[in-house]
Amino acid sequence: MKGTVGFHGASVPPDNFLQDVIAGLSLARKQLPPKYFYDAAGSELFERICELPEYYPTRAETELTRAHLDSIAAFAGANAELVEYGSGASTKTRILIERLRPAVYVPIDISESALKIAGATLAVEFPWLNIQAVVGDFDRPLMLPAFNGKRGRKLVYFPGSTIGNLTPEQALSFLHMTRGLVGPDGAMLVGVDLKKDANELHAAYNDAQGVTAAFNLNLLHRINRELRGDFDVSRFSHYAFYNAHASRIEMHLVSLVQQTVNVGRYRFSFDAGESIHTENSCKYSVGEFRVLAAEAGFIGREVWLDSKGLFSLHGLVAA
Ligand code: SAH
Ligand code: AVI
Repeated sequence: MKGTVGFHGASVPPDNFLQDVIAGLSLARKQLPPKYFYDAAGSELFERICELPEYYPTRAETELTRAHLDSIAAFAGANAELVEYGSGASTKTRILIERLRPAVYVPIDISESALKIAGATLAVEFPWLNIQAVVGDFDRPLMLPAFNGKRGRKLVYFPGSTIGNLTPEQALSFLHMTRGLVGPDGAMLVGVDLKKDANELHAAYNDAQGVTAAFNLNLLHRINRELRGDFDVSRFSHYAFYNAHASRIEMHLVSLVQQTVNVGRYRFSFDAGESIHTENSCKYSVGEFRVLAAEAGFIGREVWLDSKGLFSLHGLVAA
């Protein structure tokens, strides 16, 4: 038996992509939003990153989820309406679905291809599960599909430390929006990468096989494919470092030479050594994240760590 999956929403309009690229490359310090990494090729590259020996977050979060499953399930409660932001391949979510048996599962992702693959697999694995997938951008308020039926509390799951890809100010407004969505009885499970030795962080974002570099450079390939760009990708290089002052890994694409690049009818010039800032990956202590969550109207009720203390999963309830 195979369950059915409802699909909602539309892909992000290509106009937004063009506008954001033009705006980002027009800044004195060029930058591009990380959400555009995730076309079909980018989503596949991200899944390969998760398997890399240097990239500890996925393994650490999977380990802690299995190790603390009883306590996570007690926190979540039965029949939850499980909403997941940035669900990707929904890999860790399977552990929760199996145990929590939610009334409905609403995966939300900007990557239509990732959502389709995950939906099809989950429908086979969990034929009893009501899956209502939403293609959408969590930077803006989203309409969630209406759903009738017996259900427990609204539970928002946001794993993988995707919240770290937002600046603390953006994370605060995201948490505020989520607090509004879950309502007074709602709760949130958020995966947050912890501060640690800068060398370990550096290795995780500069893997020996170059998969992270390919993931970063894919953004330029995507601009070429979808926006009539003419980036010579071999003239840019991946650069990732830990900015200790801002407690974040920064990913950049550095121009190796002086050059001009066209995107549709727009033209941009690059000095040799000039970079495009493509991603932040902010790292928090447990206490820092709890303070941020409290500002957004959540109480940090639980926190679970992996055995090496690399990664945290916060159980937040509405204050
Ligand atoms: N939750 C998975 C995947 C994390 S990768 C895990 O923990 O392994 C980040 C995911 O968030 C990707 O699937 C990406 O497509 C999605 N994403 C990134 N920015 C987004 C946005 N603004 N709106 C919706 N989804 C987004
Ligand atoms: C999705 N996100 C939490 C990843 C991270 O670690 O910031 C994306 C990533 N970037 C480079 N490697 C992985």
